[in-house]
Amino acid sequence: MSLLPNPFNALIIGASGTIGSNFVKLLESNPSCSKVIGIHRNSAHAIDYHHPQTIEASANSLTELGPFQLIINTIGMLHSEEWMPEKKLGDLNSTQLAEMFNTNTIGPALTIKHFSKLLDPKHSVMATLSAKVGSIEDNRLGGWYSYRASKAALNMIIKTASIEFARTKPNIALIALHPGTVNSGLSQPFRGQQIGRDPLEAVTDMFNVLANVNKEDTGSFLTYSGEKLPW
Ligand SMILES: NC(=O)c1ccc[n+]([C@@H]2O[C@H](COP(=O)([O-])OP(=O)(O)OC[C@H]3O[C@@H](n4cnc5c(N)ncnc54)[C@H](OP(=O)(O)O)[C@@H]3O)[C@@H](O)[C@H]2O)c1
Repeated sequence: MSLLPNPFNALIIGASGTIGSNFVKLLESNPSCSKVIGIHRNSAHAIDYHHPQTIEASANSLTELGPFQLIINTIGMLHSEEWMPEKKLGDLNSTQLAEMFNTNTIGPALTIKHFSKLLDPKHSVMATLSAKVGSIEDNRLGGWYSYRASKAALNMIIKTASIEFARTKPNIALIALHPGTVNSGLSQPFRGQQIGRDPLEAVTDMFNVLANVNKEDTGSFLTYSGEKLPW
């Protein structure tokens, strides 16, 4: 049985991004969604992974607006103004590795820690955007060292927390979600505009997957089409 009740309250983290803002747009027009709140580093209840104390402060500031039955964290990065994904071992550097792990692993891990308190213990779903290239088993092309590694580590955090939750909060599902290639600022340098999917179409597909998640799905790595990915 699906964990997402009707009606439900939703919280979108990283609502300034392409996927995050489209989730807000989609849920604002969904009659089953009573309330959707979008937060990012420049919003009310600001959350900024460069300032980890904002993660707990943001969650605490949202207590009275909860509980939420759906939380989706879309924060993530692939490149910056200073660097692009590494093509070879020789490109590895500590600055890029640290920044990628901070944004794609440490921030999302602390977000699960603090924001899971806002979830409805009776029935809810928390999804964190991961990426198929974070699958170790599926890695055939190589490259993109820090992005792949930071998403693989994120997947391990989600899986581990889901095992703990199965004991302590059995009606909450934690999901690692792959959006597919979506036309956004993140995919833009990699022909995202040409090969990426329309963001609203992508979030519609992802929402349909999350709306059908049940208790047994917790700790899964799912694609936008509901397929289970290998770790
Ligand atoms: N697009 C794709 O093809 C694709 C494919 C696979 C996986 N994904 C994953 O999907 C998620 C969303 O991607 P997107 O395409 O929507 O990218 P995007 O448009 O670049 O959005 C990224 C979001 O992350 C936020 N962010 C980045 N660094 C942050 C930090 N240090 N603190 C707080 N917020 C920070 C951005 O905030 P600002 O607006 O303030 O910068 C923005 O809200 C990411 O986790 C990505 O890895 C995307």
